[in-house]
Amino acid sequence: MPLLTTPALPPGTLAGRPQPDLDAGDLLLRPWHPDDGQAVLAAYADPAIRRWHCRTMSGDEARDWIDAWPRRWHQETDASWAVTDHAGVLGQVGLRAVDLYEGEAAVSYWVLPAARGQRVAARALTALTAFAFDRLGLHRLGLRHSTANGASCQVAQRAGFHLEGTNRGAARHTDGWHDMHVHARLRTDT
Ligand SMILES: CC(C)(COP(=O)(O)OP(=O)(O)OC[C@H]1O[C@@H](n2cnc3c(N)ncnc32)[C@H](O)[C@@H]1OP(=O)(O)O)[C@@H](O)C(=O)NCCC(=O)NCCS
Repeated sequence: MPLLTTPALPPGTLAGRPQPDLDAGDLLLRPWHPDDGQAVLAAYADPAIRRWHCRTMSGDEARDWIDAWPRRWHQETDASWAVTDHAGVLGQVGLRAVDLYEGEAAVSYWVLPAARGQRVAARALTALTAFAFDRLGLHRLGLRHSTANGASCQVAQRAGFHLEGTNRGAARHTDGWHDMHVHARLRTDT
């Protein structure tokens, strides 16, 4: 049945350009390199990242994870950037479940333990948000975290993602169902 709405953004909005580097002041967000495997492996060995992202990773899986990003960019479904400084990889920030028809996506982030407490996630997310709204033209970015993950709630609020409510029992972690805070930022937010 024909839809009465038109696509918010056309196909090719991502795939029509190479995935760019994004400048975040002291930080540089860049596409993953094949030699970032050790950083990804270290990330998914960290108990907090395992807890909140609900996965483990072997060396081969870390390589596959890195190798998949160019394909996901060209399929216009997801995108990930390595968050780096002069010393190397500090974390990850990205877009998930990109929906060009509706002009929306979800955001994801983690920071390696040694780089925590320096607002790395919020600074990276702010740069990604500017790119998503100003250069891609997305309308809405959503962010969900467990209500037990207070650090993630701080990141969301520091990056201007307003708390919209709580979805009860909405995500399953290894210890069972969690209530999830729903945050979002719109392109029209100031
Ligand atoms: C959540 C996370 C991305 C925050 O990144 P960050 O760059 O350290 O964020 P901030 O510097 O803004 O710190 C946020 C909060 O983390 C906590 N924190 C600060 N230093 C910390 C440290 N060294 N280790 C752990 N947590 C710390 C504090 O509660 C801080 O809030 P406050 O500044 O109001 O006290 C990071 O802790 C992380 O990767 N956690 C595991 C994965 C995860 O939760 N991902 C998000 C899933 S929705």
